[in-house]
Amino acid sequence: MLSLSHLGYDSSGFSWIIESDRTNVVQTMYQLQVSLHQDFTSSFYDTGEISSCSSVCVPAVGLDLPSSETVYWRVKVWDNHDEDSGWSDPQVIITNPNQKEWKAKFITPETSEDASLAKGKLLRKEFDIDSEITRATVYATALGIYELHINGQRVGDALLTPGWTEYEERLLYQTWDVTALLKKGKNAVGAVLGSGWYKGDLAGWLGRRNIYGDRNAFFMQLDIRYENDKKQVEITNDNWKHSDGPIIFSELYHGETYDAREEKHGWNTADYNDNSWTKAEVLDVDYKKLAPQDGQLVKRQDILPVKEIIVTPEGETVLDFGQNLVGWVRFTVSGKKGDTVKLRHAEVLDHNGNFYTANMRDARNEILYMLKGDKNEVFEPHFTFQGFRYVSVDEWPGTINPEDFKAVVIHSDMNRVGEFECSHELLNKLHHNILWGLKGNFVDIPTDCPQRDERLGWTGDAQVFARTSTYLMDTRTFFIKWLRDLRISQKESGAVPHVVPDILSGKFTEDDVNENVDSVSGWGDAAVICPWAMWLAYGDKKALGECYESMKAWVDFIRNRATDGLIWNTDFQLGDWVALDAKEGSYFGATATDLIATAYYAKSTEILAKTAEILGFYDDKVSYESLLKNIKDAYAKEFFSHTGRLVSPTQTAHILSLAFDMTPEDYKKRTIQGLLKLIEDNDGHLTTGFLGTPYFCQVLADNGCLKNAYDLLLKEDYPSWLYQITKGATTVWEHWDGIKPDGSMWSDKMNSFNHYAYGSVGEFLYRVVAGIDTDLERTGYKHIVIKPQPGGGITHTRAKVLTPYGDASIKWDIKNSVFSLNAVIPHNSSATITMPDGTKNDVGSGAYSFSCKIDQ
Ligand code: BGC
Repeated sequence: MLSLSHLGYDSSGFSWIIESDRTNVVQTMYQLQVSLHQDFTSSFYDTGEISSCSSVCVPAVGLDLPSSETVYWRVKVWDNHDEDSGWSDPQVIITNPNQKEWKAKFITPETSEDASLAKGKLLRKEFDIDSEITRATVYATALGIYELHINGQRVGDALLTPGWTEYEERLLYQTWDVTALLKKGKNAVGAVLGSGWYKGDLAGWLGRRNIYGDRNAFFMQLDIRYENDKKQVEITNDNWKHSDGPIIFSELYHGETYDAREEKHGWNTADYNDNSWTKAEVLDVDYKKLAPQDGQLVKRQDILPVKEIIVTPEGETVLDFGQNLVGWVRFTVSGKKGDTVKLRHAEVLDHNGNFYTANMRDARNEILYMLKGDKNEVFEPHFTFQGFRYVSVDEWPGTINPEDFKAVVIHSDMNRVGEFECSHELLNKLHHNILWGLKGNFVDIPTDCPQRDERLGWTGDAQVFARTSTYLMDTRTFFIKWLRDLRISQKESGAVPHVVPDILSGKFTEDDVNENVDSVSGWGDAAVICPWAMWLAYGDKKALGECYESMKAWVDFIRNRATDGLIWNTDFQLGDWVALDAKEGSYFGATATDLIATAYYAKSTEILAKTAEILGFYDDKVSYESLLKNIKDAYAKEFFSHTGRLVSPTQTAHILSLAFDMTPEDYKKRTIQGLLKLIEDNDGHLTTGFLGTPYFCQVLADNGCLKNAYDLLLKEDYPSWLYQITKGATTVWEHWDGIKPDGSMWSDKMNSFNHYAYGSVGEFLYRVVAGIDTDLERTGYKHIVIKPQPGGGITHTRAKVLTPYGDASIKWDIKNSVFSLNAVIPHNSSATITMPDGTKNDVGSGAYSFSCKIDQ
């Protein structure tokens, strides 16, 4: 039996997963149809039978979707066993309006005098529907953050819409089918509008706000269709009215103040008396910046109960949710009208067990709620989120009952794809912490941290974690979205800003006068490394192609900055950020920054040359290959002595020289020995920062030092990945010494307990410990590399990755010096399974078992 699952469509094309009870199944043909009718009585697009094994991001050549329609698509496939799947169930696509169809206006409830305010404003309008409708679709967005309501009900379950993009050029609108929410007769539509990234506080240490504007605005177009093909369009315009509401204040960093006494009962339903409301004003906003939602929407993902209530030595009553998470607290409260609830949020308790918020810097993370006096008032904030494990209940009417509080976990709505479990409990916890680092920091954009007055799309953090993210969740469209903004923010010169969306260029430091200070190695390389990580994990050629010019511009930018076009030693660099070999109190690691910058330059050039080949740009391939060779030669001359000693005697210098293949063959042995010596000198520990750490274990494993890789990975004393777990970490820390062995903390100026950069070792858990990787020539797991490299005394490992072709899983154990492996390879894919004794088997889809002798 052949069948299909996981059918999907987006800007990269159509995808499906093949299910079959046979082994060795390969798709031989497919046929795709697109129709205006669910029963496919006729279709306006039909590929016919295409001989192809392609089932992931299949481009629809020549498909021209009609605008503002609901269309249906289906697919049928054939396999190498002469079976066919039959037609899949019809899948719905709601298509986007053309530019010229936009009629709605951006309407604002604010004047410029409201620039410093952060109220949740209410907007509303009523309209009639005179007969039965067949369907209704709403398109909505905002300058700010909005929540949309129709006839008293919230539309969709997305949060913090429209998310954060380069608003000046790209503002995403969201689309919902609202047929079921409308009724014949009088209807009402309402919106709540908050400050968000558009006009609220951002980059607290710079005191920035109103970055994009000082007036929020809302935009909505409701497209209603009747039986007789009649259309009705409801739009935001100056017939809408606005009013203040119960949200007195709401800001991403600072939390929310909500006065339930100010609720306007029935404001979002028909027949509400809005005589006292004020007319909204139309703002002139260019439709050109409107673009359809292209990443996953942020949604509620999980609800966690209170694990424990703590009374601290200072007397605060603190809820412990047992997990450092991102979202907010939902509470149920009863009391008198005007009673108040006050909550504050923290990631950790201090050395003495007291509530600790100093590392939040200027982010207040405070919830204030004034009761209306009902029984069981339930509250969740609207336009803010917090990164926290602990909540101090400063004010609460009556007894504090743990049942009344739940933590709501939010993040971009990505499918979980990876599972990892092994016999080493702390390693399992590390995997858990890495996963929660992703959850907390993939909230519409990849952020450095989710709690302090920062939460920015730092490019360096994103690039070091990109590949690991693909092992944990489906981050393909998340990165497609963010990379579109990266490309917009990229300068004419090819420079890539530190953060995307870019709110730091020209503002980063006081002497930030030249744009090159706004573009540094290891951060700007996100323009090349992130698309490449996505290419490896998903094999989405369309997405890679979209990035090509930007990748090239980045490499050319460096070439223009570099001395002789080869050694990048001309600019300010962040270098091996927060490495332990930094001078006391400094963030800048000891590794020579020109060495790092040149190594990364080579890495990006190498990826660019490969990308040129994949996309068929052969002249570019040849010219960047030759540039790469020249950079490597220059690097060898500049950074190695003539006997092969590295000039920068740090772990990171050695790691990058090996990881990026910058070490001449003759010097390899010495470089590896040098690295081992540096580990030994540091008592078996790492000293690396953001740029060296991600490659550390992999470099050791790839250079015959697997044992050293495991020794490093499994270290439990300071500094190490597992040390922080022994200190109670439930997410990955920004600093190896966020909490020092004596319990004191790294400076509160920059001490996040939820930073995913060091979680980039997650890739090693999947690729090396479990042994699941994509073949680099047939990416997106079209061909899978199963190659477990056991060590560290680990006796069993089980891992699963939902690849674009389906689940690839592996289970291995070691008993009595026998290594046994079970692997499952998804259909329409194949694998090479390499056992620890070096034996290799090439297999098609199916379940396989192998065993071999192993030294323990
Ligand atoms: C961020 C980092 C970032 C760094 C670079 C920090 O404030 O949290 O993760 O990459 O700045 O300067």
